Amino acid sequence: METLIKKYMKAIRLHAKGGVEQIVYEEAPVPGLSEGDALVRVLASGITTNELNWGPTYVDEKGNSRLPTIPGHELCGIVENVSPGATGVAVGDHVYALTSFFRNGTAAEYVAVEARNLAPKPLTLNAVQAATLPLAALTAWQALFEHGGLLPGQKVLIHGAAGGVGSIAVQIARWRGATVIATTDAESVDLVKSLGAHQVINYKSERFEKVISDVDLVLDSIGGDTQDRSWQVLKRGGTLVSIAGESIKQPPATLGVRGIFFIVKSNRLQLMEIALLIDRGHIRPVVGAVIPLADARKAFEMIFQSGKKGKIVLQVSE
Ligand SMILES: NC(=O)c1ccc[n+]([C@@H]2O[C@H](COP(=O)([O-])OP(=O)(O)OC[C@H]3O[C@@H](n4cnc5c(N)ncnc54)[C@H](OP(=O)(O)O)[C@@H]3O)[C@@H](O)[C@H]2O)c1
Repeated sequence: METLIKKYMKAIRLHAKGGVEQIVYEEAPVPGLSEGDALVRVLASGITTNELNWGPTYVDEKGNSRLPTIPGHELCGIVENVSPGATGVAVGDHVYALTSFFRNGTAAEYVAVEARNLAPKPLTLNAVQAATLPLAALTAWQALFEHGGLLPGQKVLIHGAAGGVGSIAVQIARWRGATVIATTDAESVDLVKSLGAHQVINYKSERFEKVISDVDLVLDSIGGDTQDRSWQVLKRGGTLVSIAGESIKQPPATLGVRGIFFIVKSNRLQLMEIALLIDRGHIRPVVGAVIPLADARKAFEMIFQSGKKGKIVLQVSE
């Protein structure tokens, strides 16, 4: 049976669709549990660039408004309660997870999560570090392997390599045995090299399409002009996987390359594989800044600032 710890919690909410100006730090009801859910006490929550613009931030799966809405979709926390039908977790487990984009998020003291999406937190990380990973690392994993089919020995170009997704994608691709080329700005060249990139291009001073070619796979987290210029660096049969925006414009058929857009999905098994790679030292999180939950507005402003590295994390509890 569901036993709520308390009735109200501190949370970040938006009462109307918009941007940072809509964010308020206030009391909200502790969420109830549906069948299969677990209640997680959030220790830390990752936040993601552009998430306040995503459609599902404001609606449920049927398209109905769910204002006021709580942002944040990656967490590290402790299971406080489980509903009937919740599998694979028990009260007291330390977990990390990517939560549904169509439900209230993790920028709160408590969140109700489908238990099947919770995975044991990497043993070697603290809560803040673990909260940088679920969305970013699952996106990198699914882009490179499920959609991009990356194989050892192939050449991959990763745009935005100092960012949340890019910083993990560089490390996963290197671990997989690929030749990794990355774009970033001047301040992050050393960081991206230290993550394992073989070649780093400063996108502000050099046009990547002038210096590289014959790439098997491009991971594009930028879109726009960067995407348009990326088709020409692919070899015939190559693939561009995009996570930017909401769709992808296909390239001219004469190039013999293909483009895929996808939206990341929660996946417990993949999170467990990622935790193993972390604990064996193949991947490290990049924490750009840690901001208290009460200052979430500042955190959401920072994600748009140039020069940011890795992920910004809301510290919810010690
Ligand atoms: N489809 C999905 O499932 C999915 C999943 C996760 C994220 N996303 C989206 O993917 C995007 C990236 O997410 P993220 O968390 O990695 O964001 P992020 O942390 O903001 O990283 C983006 C990085 O790209 C850099 N950058 C900006 N313009 C660039 C350019 N022209 N060339 C190369 N690098 C450039 C930025 O650095 P500077 O501006 O400092 O140079 C920043 O380091 C966001 O829009 C996010 O909403 C989608």
